[in-house]
Amino acid sequence: LSLDAELRRVAELVDGYIRDSLQGDPKLLYDASYHLLSAGGKRLRPFVLMKFYSIYNKDEYAALPAAAAVELVHNFTLIHDDIMDHDELRRGVPTVHKRYGEAMAILAGDVLFAKAFRLVAESPALKGDPPRLGRAVSQLAGSLVTVCEGQALDLNPPALQEFTEQFYFDMIHRKTSALFEVSAVLGCIAGGGVEDEVKSAREYADHLGIAFQLVDDLLGIAGEPSETGKPVGNDIVQGKRTLPLIMALKLADSKWIETIMSTWGSKKAPQETVESVVRYIRELGVDAQVRKLASEHLFHALKCLEVFPKGEGVNLLTELARALTVRRM
Ligand code: IPE
Ligand code: IPE
Ligand code: MG
Ligand code: MG
Repeated sequence: LSLDAELRRVAELVDGYIRDSLQGDPKLLYDASYHLLSAGGKRLRPFVLMKFYSIYNKDEYAALPAAAAVELVHNFTLIHDDIMDHDELRRGVPTVHKRYGEAMAILAGDVLFAKAFRLVAESPALKGDPPRLGRAVSQLAGSLVTVCEGQALDLNPPALQEFTEQFYFDMIHRKTSALFEVSAVLGCIAGGGVEDEVKSAREYADHLGIAFQLVDDLLGIAGEPSETGKPVGNDIVQGKRTLPLIMALKLADSKWIETIMSTWGSKKAPQETVESVVRYIRELGVDAQVRKLASEHLFHALKCLEVFPKGEGVNLLTELARALTVRRM
């Protein structure tokens, strides 16, 4: 099975399920809730959940509601994140608050958040087993608390001079890995995995999430808009503090440091300047450095898969981790 084809197949299954569960009145609210979901997205978290589940059980329909749930909570975090980050474009379309207004976007996120818990509670793979269901709900709630903590760190980071690698990794572990972790853990719990396996699944997903966010932050400063669906140099203009940005500043010569810093956080910076900064950062070789760091996490992620029986599920989780480390979008 090729990773791309399987990603697409699982995405279609999950999307069908989500479409059916996001209908209602008032229509505007449901349209706003569905706006980002209909614009695309990689559906990585449901994929992780489904593939861990498939290690134990071939009846994938039983895990579908839980898989849809992790995509819904992900989209909930994105809608609220775009409000917090004042971002106007995601997945190549206007963000929910740009299109529907902030108040409706907050509500649209809340709907996804609430629906997600309902889907988990009603999952056939968990329903008949109250202790496992309780554990799954508790894990999902816990992961969202962690995401909020991570987002709070992101909103209030230390000054650039005091921004350490340790702070960065703690922040992305919370704001990004947490949802990958809960996806892996729910797949394992729903499948009936033993404690050691749940622990390894969580660790795999932690490393996967970190590698993923490292690359995401690289793309945030050096990505190609036609590939990322976001404006050129978005994280620079937005004044985001990320490790790839710090790495770029360390490599840059003093004349360019000044230009980068004057563009950083300046939404009024001329487009040509932003483009020239991005071109310069690409030439610095930050890409290779960040991807090397990401490959170290890839290595650890793959080690965690060794406790699971070999097969299609583990193969695809291996391919996924590899693909996320080299991705350009
Ligand atoms: C974007 O996640 C948010 C981050 C955690 C960086 P994805 O890159 O998985 O977003 P979609 O769902 O594919 O759009
Ligand atoms: C995305 O974080 C949201 C969460 C991780 C919860 P970022 O703000 O870093 O990512 P993008 O660039 O908006 O996708
Ligand atoms: Mg953001
Ligand atoms: Mg953010």
